[in-house]
Amino acid sequence: MKACFARVSFFVIALSHGLLAGAADSAPRERLLLDFGWKFHLGNEWGAAQNLAKAGSGYGAASTTFSDASWRRVDLPHDWAIELPFDRKADAAHGFRAVGPGFPDHNIGWYRRTFALPASDTGRRLWLELDGVYRDCTVFVNGWAIGRHESGYSAARYDITDVANCGGENIVAVRVDASLAEGWFYEGAGIYRHVWLVKTGPLALAPDGVFVYSSFPGNVPAGPAAIHLQATLANALPSAADATVSWEILAPDGRSVATAQKAAPVPGAGQAEVIGTAQVAGPELWSPETPRLYKLVTTVARDGQTIDREETEFGIRTVGFDADKGFLLNGRPYVLQGTCNHQDHAGVGAALPDSLQYFRIAKLKAMGANAYRSAHNAPTPELLEACDRLGMLVMDENRLVGSDAQHLQLFKELVLRDRNHASVAIWSLGNEEFSVQSTPSGGRVAATMQALVKRLDPTRPVTCNAAVGNDFSGINTVIEVRGWSYHIGKDNMDAYHAAHPAQPNVGSEQGSTVGTRGIYAADPKRGYVSAYDDNGQAWSNTAQQWVSFFGPRPWLSGGFVWTGFDYRGEPTPYTWPCVNSHFGIYDTCGFPKDNFWYYQSWWTAQPVLHLLPHWNWAGREGQVIDVRALSNCEEVELFLNGRSLGRQPLPRYGQLKWQVPYTPGTLSAKGYTGGKLVAETKVETTGAGAAVQLAPDRAAIRADGEDVAVVAISVTDAAGRVVPLAGDLVSFDLEGPGRIIGVGNGDPSSHEPDTYFSGPTLRTLPVGGWRWSEVKDPYAVDLPEAAVNFDDSAWSPTDVDAATGQLGLHGRAVFRTRLTVTPESLAAPGVELWFGKIEGDATVYLNGEKLGPGGGAGAPSAYDVKAKLHPGVNTIAVAVANYGETAGVSQGARLRLVDNPAPVAWSRSVFNGYAQVIVQSAKSAGTITLTARAAGLKPATLSIETKGVTLRPAMP
Ligand code: GAL
Repeated sequence: MKACFARVSFFVIALSHGLLAGAADSAPRERLLLDFGWKFHLGNEWGAAQNLAKAGSGYGAASTTFSDASWRRVDLPHDWAIELPFDRKADAAHGFRAVGPGFPDHNIGWYRRTFALPASDTGRRLWLELDGVYRDCTVFVNGWAIGRHESGYSAARYDITDVANCGGENIVAVRVDASLAEGWFYEGAGIYRHVWLVKTGPLALAPDGVFVYSSFPGNVPAGPAAIHLQATLANALPSAADATVSWEILAPDGRSVATAQKAAPVPGAGQAEVIGTAQVAGPELWSPETPRLYKLVTTVARDGQTIDREETEFGIRTVGFDADKGFLLNGRPYVLQGTCNHQDHAGVGAALPDSLQYFRIAKLKAMGANAYRSAHNAPTPELLEACDRLGMLVMDENRLVGSDAQHLQLFKELVLRDRNHASVAIWSLGNEEFSVQSTPSGGRVAATMQALVKRLDPTRPVTCNAAVGNDFSGINTVIEVRGWSYHIGKDNMDAYHAAHPAQPNVGSEQGSTVGTRGIYAADPKRGYVSAYDDNGQAWSNTAQQWVSFFGPRPWLSGGFVWTGFDYRGEPTPYTWPCVNSHFGIYDTCGFPKDNFWYYQSWWTAQPVLHLLPHWNWAGREGQVIDVRALSNCEEVELFLNGRSLGRQPLPRYGQLKWQVPYTPGTLSAKGYTGGKLVAETKVETTGAGAAVQLAPDRAAIRADGEDVAVVAISVTDAAGRVVPLAGDLVSFDLEGPGRIIGVGNGDPSSHEPDTYFSGPTLRTLPVGGWRWSEVKDPYAVDLPEAAVNFDDSAWSPTDVDAATGQLGLHGRAVFRTRLTVTPESLAAPGVELWFGKIEGDATVYLNGEKLGPGGGAGAPSAYDVKAKLHPGVNTIAVAVANYGETAGVSQGARLRLVDNPAPVAWSRSVFNGYAQVIVQSAKSAGTITLTARAAGLKPATLSIETKGVTLRPAMP
């Protein structure tokens, strides 16, 4: 591999002297998705794989000559934690997956990918960006260790210009270490967000170098919006350059509505910040109800030539808090109807395709939610994009609290990354910092962090989710907006507000009823809780309790329910076999629990009427069933088989109850407002399961290899009614341009797999007959002892299956053998030459040509020899110099024939009638046919169209 740094420096000098105007510096910025075609391996065979002694010599999987032919192929985003079995000995808080403390073999994963760069990239800046890796990673490019990143939630971004090979192949290897928990909830493992390769000219907009925000006098929209523009330019050239930044603002309909321009010198090897302003007359304001987005086009020119251009979506709107009126959006009081959420979903763990972010945000909007708290970490960028576009305010939360340089850096990166998003309305410094919340140092740290945000973003308020009551100490004394984590009540909230009337408040974490979808009695053995809104925990409240306390208190700004969706981990109030939380209003798939209708009643204006429980109580005839109505109607009348059981007035924020002796049939209700019938509903006793049904969220998806259809599976009776107790095992077949990527059913105690996969299978052939001899110079350029025709008949035979090598300190030797290979072996999809251990400073040769260095640190090494072996006799040589105790070839040598993975069979039980399959498109248009079968039930077949689209720029 030939590095291009020599040519880079020529280009840099040439460019800085204007010799090559129009070459690398005028090529447009490219942002290439680097998600497809990775290889993955779970295991820690190569330790750190970083050779600190010698630059650019990562070994084992980090080396450029390593063969990953036997590794599994994966596309990103990828989460290996959901591929692992559940294990009772694993951490309950993280959902009992066999990863983390006690599972060292499952904590380190390796990802590798090659990519080509054209020679024309010479002179451009090349950035490798990993949006999210859980949790620590070391990134190698072409054998160079280019960075270590410690955080499961912030992006790792590396300038790889110097180590890149322009005009040739490049290898990126990422070692991911998931041993450390960052939170107390399921966090995943692996590269679970997108990876990008960004190419710019040497003088360009810096990463996160665009900032745009609007303002109005008094923070109340009226008249034209002042638009504040900021561009940070980075100049990698050695000498100063003059640049001109032009801004153009496009309205939501694409019309150009404002422009601005500013020239600025940018110092050599430095940065410059260029500030501009513009005005937008009659702006269309962004809100959750009207998510109108403007676009800023920032263009950078030098000597009249465009050298960079970026588009940034933003919204024109104002946010603020008032101590009496609560949260203000666009100058008016606006009640936050929010949910807190972790980032995992059924089937895929933490690795959500972008369209699943949209699916989840749309679900939350359907119940009237207008706000989302990214608990307790920086969100995935595409989640914010979904919130911008669909209309959802975001409390953007930082994970690690601290004011030392490292913590501030992580926090700063979060703010710089997210501050253009229309949806982001408030920053949260952190969550429930029990140890420091009320201490003076906690207050000082929070003040430093808050001051940092204010410098980076003058537009948004700051809070911190404080798990204390009426306590004005530590963080609460400095924080701009007091965040309330539970602790509802007069003694806490009212007393605090009375004592600190100038400080605004927000219910940053509230509610937290537990409930299992479709379950109406506690079942500790199976780990289920009833879905009646009865189960606030010791520290928390039911939906009705918090909503009715907050309702009459606008100064509390509304709040964020813990949580919108169930998530893996925190299996409160039970533990094993329960592996999920029960806090969600939706289960992990997004199937609503009954409380969905409680929130929809009080969070939307549409008439809502919902009855619970189901009406399938065979064997309980005559026994009293606790029937409830969730509604916003003024009165509700209940009927059993047409007979009225009474009409009841519904208090605001309340719910209605009836005690009904069970008779099979139809339980129905009518809702009245202003004396008029405005809503009707019913639940019916169903027959036994008769058929499987499939219902996709969308009938057509994009044929881009990324988009997904979220398919609901249900089991229905002969009349087409969902059977509320059904638990049938359903199996799936898929044909056409797509694949299943995950399955789920919302059962918090299910131990069925989320995902099915198979890796390549291996056939191994021994490589024996080794001989060896001491040599003078194993480093010789044309090493004679590696040549095909070298006569080694006088050399001593050696057993390479021994535990350690043959050489002592300062020993130097060559090991040789001849390997006969058949055409059948070479026909295998992959062929690797594998060594258990090559100790010492070693080089491996095949048929006289170098394959690469030895394994390093005595770890196994493998070389891709499919294209290098020929049928018949081949010669293998290993040259070794020893600087340690022992060295040589040991622990076996093999030829590994790598066969394609076997197909996998997908299945999932329905839980209380429902399950979910996530189907992802391939990159070709066509029809995907999904078939679902279950014993004794009529099967279902579903067609999903995949529509040809222009693919977003991606690395081939
Ligand atoms: C809160 C905490 C959340 C979650 C929740 C469970 O105190 O902020 O992360 O643990 O309790 O009720």
